[in-house]
Amino acid sequence: MNNKIQIFDTTLRDGEQVPGCQLNTIEKIEIARQLEKLGVDIIEAGFPVSSPGDFNSVVEISKNIKEPVICALTRAVNKDIEVAAESLKHAKRKRIHTGIGTSEFHIKNKLNSNPEDILKRAVAAVKFARKFVDDVEFYAEDAGRSDNEYLARVIEAVIKAGATVVNIPDTTGYCLPQEYGEKIAYLVNNVPNIDKAVISTHCHNDLGMATANTLAGIVNGARQVEVTVNGIGERAGNTSLEEVVMAIKSHHALDYETGVNATEIIKSSKLVSTLMRMPVQPNKAIVGRNAFSHSSGIHQDGVLKSRQNYEIIDPAEIGLKESAIVLTARSGRAALRHRLQLLGYEVEAEELEDVYQRFLDFADKKKDINDEDLEILAGREKKKGKPPIELVSLQVMCGKSTIPTATVQVSFKGDVFTETASGNGPIDASFTAVKNLVKRRVRLEEFLIQAITRGSDDLGKVHVQVEHKGDIYYGFSAHTDIVTASVEAFLDALGKIS
Ligand code: KIV
Ligand code: ZN
Repeated sequence: MNNKIQIFDTTLRDGEQVPGCQLNTIEKIEIARQLEKLGVDIIEAGFPVSSPGDFNSVVEISKNIKEPVICALTRAVNKDIEVAAESLKHAKRKRIHTGIGTSEFHIKNKLNSNPEDILKRAVAAVKFARKFVDDVEFYAEDAGRSDNEYLARVIEAVIKAGATVVNIPDTTGYCLPQEYGEKIAYLVNNVPNIDKAVISTHCHNDLGMATANTLAGIVNGARQVEVTVNGIGERAGNTSLEEVVMAIKSHHALDYETGVNATEIIKSSKLVSTLMRMPVQPNKAIVGRNAFSHSSGIHQDGVLKSRQNYEIIDPAEIGLKESAIVLTARSGRAALRHRLQLLGYEVEAEELEDVYQRFLDFADKKKDINDEDLEILAGREKKKGKPPIELVSLQVMCGKSTIPTATVQVSFKGDVFTETASGNGPIDASFTAVKNLVKRRVRLEEFLIQAITRGSDDLGKVHVQVEHKGDIYYGFSAHTDIVTASVEAFLDALGKIS
């Protein structure tokens, strides 16, 4: 058996199912391009029948990506398969990923069916998909809780029908590593034609064991792993790409390899986190902000004597470079541009001027400008251009024994409007004033403030989700003043309502 592990990235499909993480087509292409640079073998680009937006994203990703196989998800339904095939028309290398639930829970309670009917539907779906493409992956949904004997029968039948890859998802993240490993071993030993297909893992992290289960799958014969950047995905997420790749890379005794260029890991992680508005937990393995920082005196001393005392991975291996240039309010444009380039941002002269002015403003308030701050400064300029509704001024009155009151001035298409309102806090008062001004029926669905914080002078990042006539609009801003950041984020979302 060969030792190359195929990396199947499902950040844009399973990852994108996370509420609030939806991307537009341009953002998806940007992530797909980064995944190509990262060196993944397969990109699951979406579930085309689910919406016109998803269909369009698969079409555009197919046009823009050359190396990885582009994969589209379907149910075991002919219409889904036809639509998936159509969306993959432009892909250089294409795969249809079809499947159905095989656990007793799914067969009885979800599909209201019986095992023999499910087996027939699985075979029919694979045969139908093979009419359109040569590469068909079959998923046995909830395989983690499926009876192994029945699962083996289904897998044998779908391989006979033409499946080239068989995916064994632990859909609910229930399996223990040994149990999941034994499931893969059972299939290797009991499916007579298993050598005609690649076995794939697809593990969810509900019990925090997705990476361990995936590795157990590999050790027992799986040669494809389904993963997401930062481990994002339904509920507690999917197996994290960077954890599996770096576990394989760090443990030579395992003797497996992937085609991933690990130095692109941090950049991929940051791009996904920024575009999906999904912060990475600081202690997340490999890509968390604290993953390579040492705080206790004993650890610092140990690392200074030899990095390996407390680090199993050289941060440079995953693309984490500590820049030697320290940016302060006295830094010039060239230093700023250089540091932005190191972070992967190409800024044109005019844009640089904007970012530089914002940088100076910020550097006056904050002593230590880190890469994260810069990405916010640059990312904001890069993404937004001139917003349709802009905050001109904001004055708040709050404190103990004071009724929180805010006076907000915004400019809309060149005209300036002012409104004062009170509320149960300065943000509530400001939002009420804004709502009175814009006169739209909007509902705040989600409001997230993150003080990423190393100090009280740090940036506060604010993400909001606003509902208007059944649609959701996202807004973001960052500022050292969290009330200002909140109002700007709110206006950012309102400005997107056409
Ligand atoms: O978790 C799961 O079972 C899935 C399948 C659709 C592959 O995501
Ligand atoms: Zn899944």
